[in-house]
Amino acid sequence: MSEYEVVYFDVLVIGSGGAGLRAAIAAKEAGAKTAVVCKSLLGKAHTVMAEGGIAASLANVANQDSWQTHFKDTLFGGKYVNDWRSALIHAKESPEAVRELERWGAIFDRTKDGKILQREFGGHTFPRLCHVGDRTGLEMIRTLQDRIVALEIELFIECMITRLLVNDGVVVGAFGFRKSTGKTIVLMAKAVILATGGLGRIWRITSNSWDGTADGQALAYEAGAELKDMEFVQFHPTGMLWPPGVKGLLVTEAVRGEGGLLKNKLGERFMKKYDPQRLELSTRDLVARAINQEIKEGRGTEHGGVFLDISHKSAAYIKNKLPSMYQQFMEFADVDITKQPMEVGPTCHYAMGGVKVHPETQESTMRGLFAAGEVAAGLHGGNRLGGNSLSDLLVFGKRAGGAAAEYAAAIKNFAYFEEVKLNRYQRELIAPFENTGNENPALLYADLQELMETHVGIIRHGDKLKEAAETLKTLSNRYPRTRVAGDPRYNFGWHWCLSLKFMLTVAEIITRAAGARKESRSSHTREDFPDLDPEWGKKSIIVRRNKEALEIGTEPLPAMPEDIRKLLEDDLK
Ligand code: FUM
Repeated sequence: MSEYEVVYFDVLVIGSGGAGLRAAIAAKEAGAKTAVVCKSLLGKAHTVMAEGGIAASLANVANQDSWQTHFKDTLFGGKYVNDWRSALIHAKESPEAVRELERWGAIFDRTKDGKILQREFGGHTFPRLCHVGDRTGLEMIRTLQDRIVALEIELFIECMITRLLVNDGVVVGAFGFRKSTGKTIVLMAKAVILATGGLGRIWRITSNSWDGTADGQALAYEAGAELKDMEFVQFHPTGMLWPPGVKGLLVTEAVRGEGGLLKNKLGERFMKKYDPQRLELSTRDLVARAINQEIKEGRGTEHGGVFLDISHKSAAYIKNKLPSMYQQFMEFADVDITKQPMEVGPTCHYAMGGVKVHPETQESTMRGLFAAGEVAAGLHGGNRLGGNSLSDLLVFGKRAGGAAAEYAAAIKNFAYFEEVKLNRYQRELIAPFENTGNENPALLYADLQELMETHVGIIRHGDKLKEAAETLKTLSNRYPRTRVAGDPRYNFGWHWCLSLKFMLTVAEIITRAAGARKESRSSHTREDFPDLDPEWGKKSIIVRRNKEALEIGTEPLPAMPEDIRKLLEDDLK
C-alpha cells in the first residue's frame, strides 16, 4: 500500500452527526484508538437541522409518562413493523441519554421548577420532547463536539469515503479522499461504524442537507451487508414552499406542538376530518397524506400547499419558543409568523430503512461493520415519530461505539489489504475526470430527483414503480459517461458526481423494495393496494447484493415475548 496515505485505528466512525459523535465518544472511552471521518466541516452534520426536540420519557411535564408508553407510541407510529427489541432499548435508555447530554453541558429549556422542559409532538401520548427552543440538534452537536475535542478524538475533516474495504466478508477499513487536495486516504480499522445519516437528497423536495446522499446505505450494500425496510421513507408534512430556493426546508413540528393549526385555502381546519382525536398532532405519515389530499382536491394554497398558522399565540411566545422559525420565514419569505400564516407542504425528511443491525450491538450482517442513527434500520418501523431520531442517535450511537470497541479489542493485528483492489478503487474515484462521455452529472441528478418525486413519492402505484425501476436502469447506464472538469482540489462537481453514484444505487433499492411491499402501511402508501395487509405486518423486506445483482427477500419480524405483547394488547386489538 506504498502509494497511498494509510492510517490505522481500532474504531473508525464514518459520519460526524449525533450518532457518529456519540459512537466515537463511547469507543474512545472504552479504550479504542478512534477516529471520525466528516464529509464536510465538523458541526455541519444534518443533526443540526433537527429542531423540535429529543423524545425521552422523563415525565417532567406529564408525570404519567413512562418508557412503556414511549415504547407503545413508537410501535404504533411505526405500524408494528419496528424491531420491538430496538424500540424497547430506545424507550428505556432515552431518559438517561438526555441526562447524560445535560451533564456534558447541553442547556435545555426549563420548566418553572427547573427541570428539562418537554413539549408535545405528533404521535407521542404525552409532552415528551426535551428541547432548546427550536434549535435542539444544534445544541446536541455543540455538546458532543466539546466532548470529542476534550477526549482528543482524531478527526478527518472534509474527507469523503467511497468504498468500504472487505477481506473475506469482513470489513477492515475504508477508502476515500481528502477534499482539500483530492488525495486518496486508506483508513484501516479493526471495526467500522457507519453513521452517515440519510438519503433525502434523492428527492427534489427535501428537508435534508447537501450531505444526505445515501452514502452509508450504498457503501454497506456494495460491501455486501443487508439492508432492511428501504421502502419506508418519511415525508415530513411541513416543509417551506416559497420562495423556490428554500422549497422543502423544514418547518419544525414544534410549530404544531406549540399550538399551530393546519388550514386549507378555505380556512378549514382539515385535520378534523383525517384524525379527529390527534388533529395536527397525528403521526407524520397521516398528516402528510392529509395535506396531499387537500391539495389534490383543489383546496391548496397559491404555491401548492396548505397554511400553518400560529399567529393566535402572542408574538413573545412565538419568538421565545420558535426563534429559528420566526427568523427563517422573516428572512427567506418575508413572512412574519407572529401575524401571518406559513405556507407549507410535504418534504422528504427521513429514511426508516437502512443497514440491518443487531438491536443490542448495532453490528450489521457483516463482521466488523456497525451502523447507528438514520443509516441503520429497525427502530422506527414504517414511520418515525418526531424526536425519536435524536434519542436514537444517542442511545444507539453509544451502543455501537461500545460494541465496536469490544469487537476491535479482540482483534490482534490490522488486516492487510491488497494493493490491486485499492488501485481499482482509485481508478473508480478519478473516473469522472477521465470518462470520455459528455453526460452532465447535474442533469442526470435532476432526472433522478424528478423521477423519484413523481414515481416514488408519498402516494405510490405498482405501475409507476415498475416504470421507475426501468427508468433507473437507463439513468444508471448514463452514469459511466458522466464527466467533470477542473482539478481534484475542492471540486464540488466531482464530489457531487461521486454522491450521485450512491444515490442511483439506493434509489433503485428503494424503488424495488416499494414495488415488493404490496400493501399500504404508514409511510408506504400504494394506490393499487390501499389496505394494510396483516401478512405484511409479520415481515421485513431485505435487500442484498448477490454478485452484481440486487436480491430482494423477506424475513419474519423477531418473535415478541408474551410480557411485551401484553403491554401492547389494547393497541393490537
Ligand atoms: O419537525 C421537527 O422538528 C423534526 C424533528 C424530527 O424529525 O425528529
